[in-house]
Amino acid sequence: MIPTLSWTPEGVRFIDQTRLPLEESFVLATSYEQVAEAIVTMVVRGAPAIGVSAAYGMALGAKQTKAKTTEEFAPEFDKICARLAGTRPTAVNLFWAIDRMKGLFANLLSSGATLNQVQGRLLAEAHAMYEEDIAACKTMGAFGGALLPEEGGVLTHCNAGALATCGYGTALGVIRSAVEKGKRIHVFADETRPFLQGARLTAWELMADGIPTTVICDNMAASLMKAGKIQAVVVGADRIAANGDAANKIGTYSVAILAKEHGIPFYVAAPWSTIDLATKTGDAIPIEERPRIEVTHHGGKQLTPNGVGICNPAFDVTPAKYITAIITERGVLRAPYTESLKQMELAAG
Ligand code: MRU
Repeated sequence: MIPTLSWTPEGVRFIDQTRLPLEESFVLATSYEQVAEAIVTMVVRGAPAIGVSAAYGMALGAKQTKAKTTEEFAPEFDKICARLAGTRPTAVNLFWAIDRMKGLFANLLSSGATLNQVQGRLLAEAHAMYEEDIAACKTMGAFGGALLPEEGGVLTHCNAGALATCGYGTALGVIRSAVEKGKRIHVFADETRPFLQGARLTAWELMADGIPTTVICDNMAASLMKAGKIQAVVVGADRIAANGDAANKIGTYSVAILAKEHGIPFYVAAPWSTIDLATKTGDAIPIEERPRIEVTHHGGKQLTPNGVGICNPAFDVTPAKYITAIITERGVLRAPYTESLKQMELAAG
């Protein structure tokens, strides 16, 4: 599998997710500003991948500074953090990664570390986050894979795969793990209007792994469920509130309601960096509004009349009551989530 993002001596290299699946090309971000731009334009996307990209952006900003000392670099570091934090508001992994890097920087600053040491430690921390993300995906994959049936259809929405993480994926990691254990899974990938992460990205990466996949338009899920073709739903998340409400790609909420109506388990797979215990319920999760052109146009072709009203929220919130289980690298959580999330956080220390 081609890496979603990687550190190179010249900067951060991304597979360009705006061009997949027809073109496998790369974008090299040679400044933190270009990393921020890659996040905004969705060259790189998906909550965990955004977080680690931002961490690398901070390491890159530190490497390129003209400051001579750590103290002199400190205000510039704040500026870099603010720029990266301003890219996309919903995925809490972004703020989790920035806060982790900020905490490290504060410690280094107060302990009198040289700028050279700071540069090395920030990069090492970004590398650590990268490796931890892959490990988390593999662990949650094993937990979640065990929940899937021996055989059947699994619906997923958006792309919560290797492309949305540093590798293996969250929801798609669960599916990969089940397939690796010999389960006969057929994936139904919602196309995921308007950005088509399902049709373009999920289909591309599952086909590369030889996992049987069928792309459906978003409005076909109910009919397939009624026909008995879907035995489970697995999706990712951008932010999970303290009560278990989960923000994910727009359209996830309707899939959850459909799953409940048809008695199909609805699983959310996400690393602990997606859990936001400081946000009490889904109502407080900020929802990004994306540019209207993503709805009015596709592939450079206009689809709607000039001047028509457009609404383009990138995410919605699935209330906890629709979620059968939340799958994390720490284990599988069940309702009531306010209790199970709190307990798992305490257990981890
Ligand atoms: O707008 P995107 O493509 O960044 O949205 C991505 C999703 O909604 C994913 O499902 C989520 O980030 C989980 S990725 C492991």
